[in-house]
Amino acid sequence: MLLLVCCLSLAGSSATNPAHAQVALGWQLLADRRLALRGDLACLDCHQPTRGYTDGRSVATEDGLNTPTLHALAGRSSFGWFTPDVRSLEAFVLRPLDNPREMGPLSDLPLERLRNDPAMQRAYAAAYPNTPAITWQATAQALAAAIRNLPTPPRAPLSPAAQRGQALFVELGCAGCHQGATLSSEAHLYTGVSANPQPARVPALVALANTGPYFHDGSAATLTDVVRFYQRGGNAGTAGVSRGITPLLLTEAEVEDLVAFLMSR
Ligand code: HEC
Ligand code: HEC
Repeated sequence: MLLLVCCLSLAGSSATNPAHAQVALGWQLLADRRLALRGDLACLDCHQPTRGYTDGRSVATEDGLNTPTLHALAGRSSFGWFTPDVRSLEAFVLRPLDNPREMGPLSDLPLERLRNDPAMQRAYAAAYPNTPAITWQATAQALAAAIRNLPTPPRAPLSPAAQRGQALFVELGCAGCHQGATLSSEAHLYTGVSANPQPARVPALVALANTGPYFHDGSAATLTDVVRFYQRGGNAGTAGVSRGITPLLLTEAEVEDLVAFLMSR
C-alpha cells in the first residue's frame, strides 16, 4: 500500500521533475515483461516485492545463483555475488537483460516494443527531456534509479532475544565482515559455502525474514541453518576459507538469540 502511494505521487510529479520521472519509469520497467527478449519475464518475477525482492528459490537459473534482494544497494560500489569488477548499478542491471538464461540476450526487439507504445514514449520523454530516445542506456539508468529509491524495509523494535543476538553478532566477529547500517561490505571472501573457493561479496543483512533461502547457492534453507553453518566453522574440509570463519562455541539459547536478531533485520 505504502509502495503504491509513493509511486503514484512520484508519477504525479514526473512532468516537472526528470529525476522523479526516472524513478517512476524505472518502477514501470521493473514490472514490464516486454523487456525480456521473449517478452515473458520481468525483473520483479525474480525480485518479488512480497519476498523482500527475492524469489524463494534456492537458485534462479542454471547459473546456480540465489536471487539477492534489491534492498540496500544505494550505497554499494559492487554488485552481484561474484562480480567485483561491476562497479555501478547501471552496469549491473544490464546483466540480467543480456543473460540468455534470464531476460536476454540484449537486442533491439524489446526496445522496439517500448518505442511502439505511446505511454512509454511519454514516460521516457518525461525522464529524459533532453535525450528522449528509448535506449538500453536510458533503460538501465531508470532501473537503477528505481532500485536506489526502494523504500527501506520496516524494522520492528528489537525483542530482548534479538538484543542479545545483536551483542553476540558483534562479540563473535560477524560484524568484522557485516558492517554499517546494512551489515554488509564491499569485501569478497570465501567462507566455504560451496566447494568452489571463489570469493563471494558480503551481502547486506536486510529483510532477512522474507529472503530465504540464503547464501549464493541457496544452500541454507533457514536462518537457523545459516547460524549452524557459522557455528561449525563453515563446511568441513574446505581449503582456503577466510580466517574470520572458525568454529564457534554457542549454546542453543545463543543460537536462538542470533536467529532472533537476524529475523529482526
Ligand atoms: C531469472 C531471475 C532473475 C531476473 C528475471 C532478474 N534477476 Fe536480478 N538477480 C538474479 C540473480 C540470480 C542474481 C545474482 C546474480 C549474480 O550475482 O551475478 C541477481 C542480481 C541482481 C542484482 C544485484 C543485487 C546485489 O545484491 O548486488 C540487481 C541489482 C538485479 N539483480 C537487478 C535486476 C533487474 C533490474 C532485473 C530486470 C532487468 C533483474 N534483476 C532480473 C535473478 C534475476
Ligand atoms: C569472514 C567474513 C564473514 C564473517 C566473519 C561472517 N560473514 Fe556472514 N557472510 C559473509 C559472506 C562472504 C557471505 C556470502 C557467502 C556466500 O553466499 O557464499 C555471508 C552470508 C551471510 C548470510 C546470508 C545472507 C543472504 O542473504 O544470503 C547471513 C545471514 C550471514 N552471513 C550472517 C552472519 C553471521 C550471523 C555471522 C557471525 C556468526 C557472520 N555472518 C559472519 C561473510 C562473513
